[in-house]
This record gives sequence, structure tokens and C-alpha cells, in this order.
Amino acid sequence: MRVVIAGGHGKIALLLERLLAGRGDQAVGLIRNPAHAADVQNAGAEAVVCDLEAASADDVAELLAGADAVVFAAGAGPGSGAPRKDSVDRGASVLMAGAAERAGVRRFVQISSMGTGQPPRPGTDEVWAAYITAKTAAEDDLRARDLDWTILRPGRLTDAPATGRIHLAAPPVPRDTIPRADVAAVIAALLDEPGTQHQTLELTGGNSPVAAAVRSTSE
Ligand SMILES: NC(=O)c1ccc[n+]([C@@H]2O[C@H](COP(=O)([O-])OP(=O)(O)OC[C@H]3O[C@@H](n4cnc5c(N)ncnc54)[C@H](OP(=O)(O)O)[C@@H]3O)[C@@H](O)[C@H]2O)c1
Repeated sequence: MRVVIAGGHGKIALLLERLLAGRGDQAVGLIRNPAHAADVQNAGAEAVVCDLEAASADDVAELLAGADAVVFAAGAGPGSGAPRKDSVDRGASVLMAGAAERAGVRRFVQISSMGTGQPPRPGTDEVWAAYITAKTAAEDDLRARDLDWTILRPGRLTDAPATGRIHLAAPPVPRDTIPRADVAAVIAALLDEPGTQHQTLELTGGNSPVAAAVRSTSE
């Protein structure tokens, strides 16, 4: 399977690239900083420079030719302000999804976030509100498209080692943390389960083994 990962140098993306390479899949990481190419290659993936705040849908559709799936793992990240929540967390996701449609790549797994889909509470920090607004718009855009999408909303991410045990279900799942390594494992499993298409799933640490949890959400 050839999987193109938007935000290919992200923490989850690098973990996912290792998992995909380890099972014989071909991962392609889209990065904006050429200095990140070596890390992506060391994770077993092909690195392609593509700034998702500058590229056109045609540019990206060209990069997706021949792919079997897209994973949206980009994010403006901590320290970024409201404008980049819109240009990356919403804009880059919309760009990737539109390019996937053009290129005929139906399978699309989007990393969203718990808290998405609810209006930010009054008094919420302006940047957090912009983040949730951007993620909600990205989800809504994806749901309206003719793609085999799965939206994955992890809880707060940690860099702890993988546990292999998760809680994965339709919202609402009680808020909790989840290691990025477990998120990567769930995405790898979702790519193998086309029955999870058209589902929005929340993810935290839990008691179910990853493969069983993903299988149980598959229709
Ligand atoms: N932090 C949390 O607790 C939490 C909880 C739930 C969900 N999430 C979501 O989980 C996702 C992945 O998390 P993570 O920790 O793996 O993220 P991360 O390490 O911050 O990675 C995000 C990646 O997106 C890339 N990116 C930003 N702008 C780009 C652009 N214009 N073109 C191409 N790539 C670009 C970044 O590249 P650069 O290094 O070049 O900036 C970075 O490599 C994000 O969408 C995040 O919002 C986070």
C-alpha cells in the first residue's frame, strides 16, 4: 500500500512511517523543510518537499498519483497563532482532501482532536478556540466529500511508549491521554480496515488491544 502522509515530519507521522515501512508498505512523507528529509528517510519513508500552505490542489494531486491512501497528520503545532490554525489545521486538510478527490485516492484518514465538533466554551483561550474551529471546519469539509474517510480524534497526546491498549469509539469518549505511538498504531490498523470509512472515532488510552478495537468499529 502506498500511503501519503501530510505533515511527514510530525511526531505521529514519523512513528507511523516506521510502522508502515516495517510491514512492507510504502510511506511518503510530505514535509515543508528540506532539512527534515533525512529523518523521514530514516523512518523508512520517501520524503517529498511540499509546503501545504503554499501548494495548489493540482500540485498535491500530482503527488498523490498512484497512492492508495492519504493520512492527514499535519498541524500548526504549539506556539502557532490563530491564523496558522486556519491555514494548516483547516486549510491544509481541505487542500489534501480536494487533491485526493482529484487524484482518485479514496481512502483518507484525518487526525483531528477530541473537543472538535463542539463550540469553544465562552471565555476559552483565543488560540484554542481558533484550533477547535479549524479542526471542526476540516472535519465538516471531509464529511461532505466523496471519499472513504475516517476521522480520528485523539485525546491529549503524550510521548510515552506504546501500550497497545486503547479506547476507540464513536463520540463521546471520556477525555484522557493517549501515547502518539498508540495513535500511529491505530492509524496503521485503520488503513487496513476499509469498514471504518465514514466514521468519526475518539481515541484515548484504554483496555482493548488495537487490532480488536479497530475491528470492532468496522462495519
Ligand atoms: N497535542 C495534542 O495533545 C493533540 C491532541 C489531539 C490531536 N492533535 C493533533 O494531532 C496531529 C499530529 O500531532 P503531532 O504531535 O504528531 O504533530 P506535530 O509533531 O506538531 O507535527 C505536525 C507536522 O505538521 C507539519 N506542518 C506544519 N505546517 C505545514 C505545512 N505548511 N506544510 C507541510 N507540513 C506542515 C509540521 O512541520 P514543521 O516541523 O515544518 O512545522 C510538523 O511536522 C495534529 O493535527 C494535532 O493538531 C494534537
